[in-house]
Amino acid sequence: MFWGLNSRKYKSKVSVASAYDSWTEDKLLERLWGEHIHLGYYPKNSRNVDFRQAKVQFVHELVKWSGLNNLPKGSRILDIGCGIGGSSRILSDCYGFNVIGITLSSAQVKRARELTAKGSSCSFEVMDALNLDFKDGEFDGIWSVEAGAHILNKDKFADEMLRTLRPGGYLAVADWNSRDFNLKPPLFYEKIVLKFLLEQWAHPEFISINGFNNILSKSMHSSGEVISENWNFYTNPSWFDSIYEGVRRPNAILNLGPKAIIKSIREIPTILLMHWAFSNGLMQFGVYKCRG
Ligand SMILES: C[S@@+](CC[C@H](N)C(=O)[O-])C[C@H]1O[C@@H](n2cnc3c(N)ncnc32)[C@H](O)[C@@H]1O
Repeated sequence: MFWGLNSRKYKSKVSVASAYDSWTEDKLLERLWGEHIHLGYYPKNSRNVDFRQAKVQFVHELVKWSGLNNLPKGSRILDIGCGIGGSSRILSDCYGFNVIGITLSSAQVKRARELTAKGSSCSFEVMDALNLDFKDGEFDGIWSVEAGAHILNKDKFADEMLRTLRPGGYLAVADWNSRDFNLKPPLFYEKIVLKFLLEQWAHPEFISINGFNNILSKSMHSSGEVISENWNFYTNPSWFDSIYEGVRRPNAILNLGPKAIIKSIREIPTILLMHWAFSNGLMQFGVYKCRG
């Protein structure tokens, strides 16, 4: 089957890097999702927000919720799994932070640099979240949005984030999680859906919000209470919106030619299944915060 033959199954960090290199170089993702490769935030009282606006809103909501906005201008922030730098630029332009964004994809680093104004206080490097080339306590804030689900070794991911966070600094993480299968094991058809979702977008494993909260809390570098929430309600309209984007901005795809049209159609079943899984609670949008 087409989806099986062309699956972007996780094999190692190399498969994640090459998936993002290709999604960046063909420009399709950026044309449709803009500079933020994450879901948007749709507030309770105004659900009818433009998709791209909702993504910007998401960054401000996570900053506020995590307390990152308590840090003074000039604070050093590490954006782990920075994509093409959407969050990093907001953190530097709107909050005055000094930001370093890291990603596995060299194509993303190149594009992030192109999109960032000269003189801006953010920079980008290719680096693995599991082997951060930074000293202990080097950052006032650690930020990571929708990167953890691409990482198999969640313990090391948590350890590296907390190791590089200074005492008293702020951690802000958002990620795609599964329901807690210790409380309610997956049904047969749910296992099939999860396998499909994992294999389409280079994810090795989804764990529960409780599971990752425990990993952060028990990390050898943990120093306090970890608070987590499920933001499914605020983020779920993003899935349909990401399909409507193709209708609202058809030229974004049409101008890229027939290959791009086929590629974008190919993503629709995955997006619809993601919507179904997040709506039913099989998948959950976890956010996490703690102090270093
Ligand atoms: C869904 S994108 C999110 C990008 C960005 N945070 C945003 O919100 O626009 C996932 C990102 O995580 C990065 N990533 C995945 N595994 C990683 C790892 N082991 N080390 C560094 N970055 C990683 C990918 O390269 C990609 O940039």
